Amino acid sequence: MKGIILSGGSGTRLYPLTKVTSKQLLPVYNKPMIMYPLEILLKAGIKEILIIVAPDHAGDYLKLLGSGKEFGARFAYEIQDRPEGLAMAFLIGEHFIENDNVCMILGDNIFEDDISETIKNFKKGGHIFAKKVPDPERFGQVKFDEQMNAVQIEEKPKEKISDFAITGLYVYDSRVVAAAKVAKPSARGELEITELHNWYLKKNELKVDVLQGEWIDAGTFEALFKATELARKKSQK
Ligand code: G1P
Repeated sequence: MKGIILSGGSGTRLYPLTKVTSKQLLPVYNKPMIMYPLEILLKAGIKEILIIVAPDHAGDYLKLLGSGKEFGARFAYEIQDRPEGLAMAFLIGEHFIENDNVCMILGDNIFEDDISETIKNFKKGGHIFAKKVPDPERFGQVKFDEQMNAVQIEEKPKEKISDFAITGLYVYDSRVVAAAKVAKPSARGELEITELHNWYLKKNELKVDVLQGEWIDAGTFEALFKATELARKKSQK
């Protein structure tokens, strides 16, 4: 299995913090934010990781993470020139992925649950993770039927379809590249990751687990503060 950390975007909601550095390099308790998603991939035994960054602070990522040797892994880097959507990562990473399964994690997502075994055990199809949240409007949402089967997935719908947000950790087989190639840009002009979930859902090959522990998309001041609290709690366990 290959790994991708998507660490693009301009982090405008965290301005002026993001005037001098990238959102995913901001401190979360005792280390830069991106170290948390990186640790998840490493714990899952993933040794080849593509780090996709925005052009502005690309050099700082190299300085922090280097070749990967220090972590017992190999890192490759790509630049995402414009924030054109999460699904673009699979086009940027096409040659890196080759015919392998791939786990992508967003550089600003912090998870309390240990998902490493689930990632290790993945065989085929798509596997994503949902979390019940008080502010589903910020996220892609997944609606479940009574048996907790996913029945509908939408990217930030105007009328909410569910309280379950789709978190920023996605495991797919190599067909995800083909799925990204046929995805159409959304109204906001981005290649949405939800298109890829739906590609697998239509084929009845999408598994959606509900996370029990905390999950934070650290893209706002409030969430960044909560992420620091969570990281501190975890480090003291
Ligand atoms: C992205 C995805 C969304 C997902 C979220 C998780 O949103 O498009 O489906 O719920 O990440 O962090 P963005 O943060 O790009 O608005």
